Amino acid sequence: MSINLDSWRSLPAAQQPEWPDRGALEQVVTKLQGLPPLVFAGECDNLKAELAAVTRGEAFVLQGGDCAETFAGATADAVRNKLKTLLQMAIVLTYAAKVPVVKIGRMAGQFAKPRSKGTETRAGVELPAYRGDMVNGLDFTPEARIPDPERLVQAYHSSAVTLNLIRAFTKGGYADLRQVHAWNQDFVAESPAGKRYEQLAREIDQALAFMRACGADPEEFHTVEFYSSHEALILDYDQALTRIDSRTGLPYDVSAHMVWIGERTRQLGNAHVEFFASIRNPIGVKLGPTTSVDDALALIDKLNPDNEPGRLSFITRMGAPKIRKHLPELVEKVTASGAQVAWICDPMHGNTFEAPSGHKTRRLDDVLDEVAGFFEVHRALGTHPGGIHIEFTGDDVTECVGGGQEIVEGDLALRYETACDPRLNRGQSLDLAFRVAELYRSA
Ligand code: PEP
Ligand code: CO
Repeated sequence: MSINLDSWRSLPAAQQPEWPDRGALEQVVTKLQGLPPLVFAGECDNLKAELAAVTRGEAFVLQGGDCAETFAGATADAVRNKLKTLLQMAIVLTYAAKVPVVKIGRMAGQFAKPRSKGTETRAGVELPAYRGDMVNGLDFTPEARIPDPERLVQAYHSSAVTLNLIRAFTKGGYADLRQVHAWNQDFVAESPAGKRYEQLAREIDQALAFMRACGADPEEFHTVEFYSSHEALILDYDQALTRIDSRTGLPYDVSAHMVWIGERTRQLGNAHVEFFASIRNPIGVKLGPTTSVDDALALIDKLNPDNEPGRLSFITRMGAPKIRKHLPELVEKVTASGAQVAWICDPMHGNTFEAPSGHKTRRLDDVLDEVAGFFEVHRALGTHPGGIHIEFTGDDVTECVGGGQEIVEGDLALRYETACDPRLNRGQSLDLAFRVAELYRSA
């Protein structure tokens, strides 16, 4: 069978950088093609099997990380803090909602950003927009904003470093369930969510001690499966990292376990959808409030023609005021078509606004409201609320307002560090996890 990974090239591709030197880009692509895979096809298949369980209603996805990872952010501390927060959230969900949690980072590759506007203006100066560390620099200077293809290679190496840390932390003892308290040690005194978590960790300790006394100490308690994902926006990069799997002869994008198509690049007949149709990874598509039933059904036909469960997740990002109006028809008609999809709620991207200080922010209450709407819609239709997709960090930033620490708009400037969209901090992330667990239990 001949596999054509180039078919997207004759189609319109939105949000691609204007590389000043195509020759330099081609050299970089050749270099990337010769580099080892970051993940293995078999691991992608394992994730697909876990997502098939989500599709059947037997597991729940927790997917999250920075809006935009940065090369400077690939430090042991930053990666550990994100992982720790995600593990704490997963524990809350597993224990309180009694559901297996599929853990996926927006990590180790989330370096490219689609932009609503091609330029950014500050104090009358207009420059090309920042498109993620994979493309150009965040500094507001003309030099930094020129797309540089060498950054694609840096993105690969930064992904490798991050993935190595993730693998070491999750397989080397740090993710052992006996660490449930240790993850919270620095946090318990600081925040209401930390205190609430501590209580739950105590209960888990009791249960573990009981199980050990019974002679049960399964392998699952000592390591966790953790998967990587990113928006596969820069098609030259993701294609250069696509390899034919020697077991199956099929192409996999080995830059991450899962990749998704963003809201701005999901047009049928365009390049991103075409490229995604040619790879065998589990994939996601973001669906905003303007998505029609026909759009969703056509995406299913193109991206999952064999109706393979676990292959396709729809990540809805409607906004709190819209989800109860727009989601029901989509879920109802897609379900009636017989299509197997996992439904994941991104409660972040429909709820962004600008504070008077000029900071882009989100209210935790809006995030919680969108998640509640997501659960209501699925409950009413008898379908499965399959997971959440969030932007968060393990550090104590002040980028979103609300939560147990009661961050207000006036606090945003205290510690606003994101390279793109505002992220939940650790306390807000745990607040969200407790709320989702409640909603799941009563769904
Ligand atoms: C994102 O996930 O950071 C993003 C840009 O989302 P969306 O494509 O849904 O706008
Ligand atoms: Co974002």
